[in-house]
Amino acid sequence: MPRITVCGKILTCAEGTNLRQVLLKEGIPLYNGKAKIINCLGIGTCGTCAVEVEGDVSPANWKEQARISLPPHALTKGRRLACQIQVQGDLRLTKYNGFWGQGDEPVWSLEIASEK
Ligand code: FES
Repeated sequence: MPRITVCGKILTCAEGTNLRQVLLKEGIPLYNGKAKIINCLGIGTCGTCAVEVEGDVSPANWKEQARISLPPHALTKGRRLACQIQVQGDLRLTKYNGFWGQGDEPVWSLEIASEK
């Protein structure tokens, strides 16, 4: 069962759990500014749940690849959409600034450690 560590607080989730659901359930500010209100609720079209992910997660599906390739996102930045990701193991996440999380200044980062 993957374990999520946020600022010293340890969270757990089942392998295969949707990353957006884990973060929102635990009160992690996934969305920047008004994107908290104006987002697609996880259907993968708005792009505001973008995060940088290091670690073991599901591969990007066609919907995520399409949205993350459109401005203000760019494939070269390597961002992922939390709403389209299933947690599969140890992770390190970074959220960046900007309405869509497309900026270059980190807003927060956290680690998800897998418990085998
Ligand atoms: S919540 Fe809209 S793309 Fe993820």
